[in-house]
Amino acid sequence: MASPNRILIKGGKIVNEDATQIGDVYIEDGKIVAVGLNQNVPDCVRVIDAKGQLVLPGGIDTHTHMELAFMGTKAVDDFNIGTQAALAGGTTMILDFVIPQKGASLLQAYEKWRSTADPKVCCDYSLHVAVTWWDETVKKEMETLVQEKGINSFKMFMAYKGVFMLQDHELYSAFSQCKEIGALAQVHAENGDLIAEGAKRMLALGITGPEGHELCRPEDVEAEATQRAITIAHAVNCPLYVVHVMSKSAARVVAGARRSGRVVFGEPIAAGLGTDGTHYWHQDWSHAARFVMGPPLRPDPSTPGYLMDLLANDDLSVTGTDNCTFSICQKALGKDDFTKIPNGVNGVEDRMSVIWEKGVHSGKMDENRFVAVTSTNAAKIFNLYPQKGRIAPGSDADLVIWDPKATRTISAKTHHQAVDYNIFEGMVCHGVPVVTISRGKVVYENGKVLAKPGEGRFIPRKPFAEFVYKRVHQREEVRTPCAVSRQPYDGEIISLPHNG
Ligand code: URP
Ligand code: ZN
Ligand code: ZN
Ligand code: ZN
Repeated sequence: MASPNRILIKGGKIVNEDATQIGDVYIEDGKIVAVGLNQNVPDCVRVIDAKGQLVLPGGIDTHTHMELAFMGTKAVDDFNIGTQAALAGGTTMILDFVIPQKGASLLQAYEKWRSTADPKVCCDYSLHVAVTWWDETVKKEMETLVQEKGINSFKMFMAYKGVFMLQDHELYSAFSQCKEIGALAQVHAENGDLIAEGAKRMLALGITGPEGHELCRPEDVEAEATQRAITIAHAVNCPLYVVHVMSKSAARVVAGARRSGRVVFGEPIAAGLGTDGTHYWHQDWSHAARFVMGPPLRPDPSTPGYLMDLLANDDLSVTGTDNCTFSICQKALGKDDFTKIPNGVNGVEDRMSVIWEKGVHSGKMDENRFVAVTSTNAAKIFNLYPQKGRIAPGSDADLVIWDPKATRTISAKTHHQAVDYNIFEGMVCHGVPVVTISRGKVVYENGKVLAKPGEGRFIPRKPFAEFVYKRVHQREEVRTPCAVSRQPYDGEIISLPHNG
């Protein structure tokens, strides 16, 4: 009788970010024990034949919002359904967001999110925490979260005025604290003041439909905030991570900053790589509304291909989904006013296939770069590497057996998510996950998710990720400005008149 704790994956093409080799992967008790050909393994082992298939590190989705309460309603993919969908798509870890209300304790919000997620998750997960207001207690709580709760990334919003948005001086303080405690500062980069004014203008013009959502926040609203965040982060030598880079203009800003030496990472998402904002002009309101998210998808149809080119060439670093799903009846809260349409799209299940199709099948990136942008870079940036993101002895056995030749057609009729549409509906993708293994257990096979709620684990992360902080520390040492040593001036000084 084969032990479920021991698996031998035989004869696959094992793909890491830096190399591909044909061989076997032997797994015991949740860990990868050996990688290579002709291994001596015990008898009672389950053997999975992977000939002709790829064996990839499980995907890491850097950006999800399972069951988020937002804009008056709650995202329909909860931690159970959302992580089942992740596994079905070849993703074995998600990073979700704790988002406290203004004035609320970050620590309490974190504890609440842990107790919501822990009993439900079917795959491993970790958390970013949002900083939505600023004072000394927030600063202290950030430190506690880093030192005691396994958090090493904080998201700051430059949009959602009056709700989550921070002012520039608050960003400066939050970024300074991130740098102090070894965390990564993340930004939602859109100019919230301009969006608020733009929205009023569109409504005054009688534009109430989903197209107004894009028209009130065009590309430069995103690009300006991206540049401002990079400038503020640079002023305090803090590494920066720009979440959901949605436009060519913002992507160019990130690319330019990286080329001029800034420690900045850009995260495009599956939606932005796989589809575009022309849908906002669709005649059918319910069709148009399903694409509403912030920042919006862009109407320039060359955007997805451009973002993929930058991702392939390391101008952009890593991919998430911003999975935050509201069904049509929830989107309908904004049927007469686009500002009331709950923001968010799907992606957690389809990210890997969409990137394979548009990135690898199209010839823009090879399978190694695919692994880097869907898994390894996330593990490095968020300090999970090599526990996650690598196929090597000692790493967690989070793997996908991937059929690069098979195709599947994405559809809400067959997806595992709770949402009643799919923004990629009808897309035919090469690259199909055949078997998903999470910490050594087969959790997806023959089209069925086998994981149970609560089987996933919270993965704590340490601060000062080397991948992010090595350069920051070195710069601190050699680039801190110092005063010029000179003789004191001892000449004449004019007298200023006294004004009362
Ligand atoms: O539209 C979006 N992105 N919804 C989720 C919240 C956020 O800004 O990430
Ligand atoms: Zn955001
Ligand atoms: Zn459409
Ligand atoms: Zn988000």
